[in-house]
Amino acid sequence: MSKNRGKLILIEGLDRTGKSTQCELLRQQFGESTTLLKFPDRSTAIGQQINQYLTDPSYKLPDQAVHLLFSANRWERNDYIRNKLLMGDNVIMDRYVYSGVAYSAAKGIEGMDLEWCYSCDRGLVRPDLTLFLVNHESNDTREGFGEERYENNSFQEKVREQFYKLFEKLDSQNDLVIVDVTGCTIDQVSKKIWTIVQDTKQIPSTTFKLFE
Ligand code: TMP
Repeated sequence: MSKNRGKLILIEGLDRTGKSTQCELLRQQFGESTTLLKFPDRSTAIGQQINQYLTDPSYKLPDQAVHLLFSANRWERNDYIRNKLLMGDNVIMDRYVYSGVAYSAAKGIEGMDLEWCYSCDRGLVRPDLTLFLVNHESNDTREGFGEERYENNSFQEKVREQFYKLFEKLDSQNDLVIVDVTGCTIDQVSKKIWTIVQDTKQIPSTTFKLFE
């Protein structure tokens, strides 16, 4: 009988929905042999350029180039992710392709439509399960919110629209779950997530789904 590979779980959502907290809790619940990756991965050379773009409003770069940097930042981790999964590790990701497409398409730049934004991510390994956290209550009082590019309410609304458009485009595989976190405590959200994650079926090794 072939050995199962690890599970690839993605937590997505707009800013301030508690993604990073839930990723960390999920990592603890999975226990040993779990890898947590956050995108953008600011530790690489490409990631550092992205970080500069996000934190320095005077840093100028064409929107197309920024988009390709975010995508390249995922590609440079693709083999690492596949190898971890093959070794039997579970891999949790905090943002990935969906954020990449939704934030760029939300800019409304001519020629940078959803399809254009998605095209450079085709071929990346696709998560076995994607959880999209939604909070219907606006809560922009979080300390530090507004310090980086994209952190304002009107832009976040546009990003939300693009997320839903992308879900319609990519929903054929039944691997996307919308988790309503409105009014929930951290613990309640964590329990919801754990229940859904446990229902994800085991995947035989060497089988990967890709973004097509
Ligand atoms: P973070 O706040 O989760 O570190 O993400 C940084 C910002 O980058 C956030 O506003 C979302 C945005 N983003 C993109 O625009 N494209 C991407 O591909 C990713 C992963 C994030």
